[in-house]
Amino acid sequence: MDVLTWGRSPWDQPILTHVSWDLLWASLFAGVVFLVAHASYMVLSAHRKRHAAETDAMEAARAHLPERIVRHSMAARLFHWAMAASMFTLLLTAFLPIVGIQFAWVTWHWAAGLVLTASILFHIIHATFWLDFWSIWVGPRDIPELKAEVLRELGHDVPGPRPGKYPLGNRLYHLAIVVAGLSVVATGLFMMVRVRTPFFTRNPYLLSDGTWGVTYVLHGMAGVALVGLVIAHVYFAVRPEKWWITKSMILGWITRRQYLEHHDPERWDVTRSDRSDRSDRSDRSDRSGVRDVRDVRDVRTVQLSD
Ligand code: HEM
Repeated sequence: MDVLTWGRSPWDQPILTHVSWDLLWASLFAGVVFLVAHASYMVLSAHRKRHAAETDAMEAARAHLPERIVRHSMAARLFHWAMAASMFTLLLTAFLPIVGIQFAWVTWHWAAGLVLTASILFHIIHATFWLDFWSIWVGPRDIPELKAEVLRELGHDVPGPRPGKYPLGNRLYHLAIVVAGLSVVATGLFMMVRVRTPFFTRNPYLLSDGTWGVTYVLHGMAGVALVGLVIAHVYFAVRPEKWWITKSMILGWITRRQYLEHHDPERWDVTRSDRSDRSDRSDRSDRSGVRDVRDVRDVRTVQLSD
């Protein structure tokens, strides 16, 4: 299997042009193998959520929590679905012509690329100033959670830490998407210089042939990696035991019981008035009927001070 595709310059020297499209099939294949392996493993895997009796006790002790807990603000959900729509458009416009379905894809492709770029910029600003920025990253502090999760997978009852707002797997996935997504956006924006757009005069001579080759290869590699990553993401979103998360990306909330079953309330403290709550504040007027937990606490504070 080839990894790179080479052309020849007018002086008959080899120049890098693209990644080899064999990699597209390799990424599709890796995605499908992962699905089959994971689905088979899940038949054998121990269930990882908290036992019913333990959750009952926690629920009784936290009766002040509202029935619905905000998990994704309206702004976060809009970002997610705008990014998903642009990502699918980019994948289809990029790879359908490569597998033989020809159409004028380039304009659709860069236009969807600009939507993705804008939604990522919005997400970075939103996550930095309105959400709990560090809740999505992984680091050495997650080793105890990793150990506890592996033991639970093996069927042991482990008291160790449960996930905070985002489970470890989700945070590792986010990291992979950040690397592939930022690479494809940075190279794609450069590549727009080579094609006809209404924004500037096309200039294929801005970079040397070799540098263009490297840019196209990086863009192709990140794009091909996104095929496997998107397959895995959609697979998890449609698995029945993950519907509660998928539903929260549509409606914005999870139930109090789901919150206690799957999360560590110490690590994702929904009663704390920190920056992660700021985005939820904007949802208070949401017609979904979700009450912000601070509303409950405010009422109790008022009652106490009365
Ligand atoms: C999911 C994300 C993306 C995927 C899978 C993807 C994939 C691809 C692929 C496979 C190509 C053909 C490359 C080649 O011929 O070597 C391409 C070309 C291109 N892409 Fe993307 N891309 C993505 C995101 C973007 C973004 C974000 C932009 C711009 C902001 C962009 C702009 C372009 C441009 C301008 C071309 C060059 C078209 C040409 O030279 O004819 N792409 N893309």
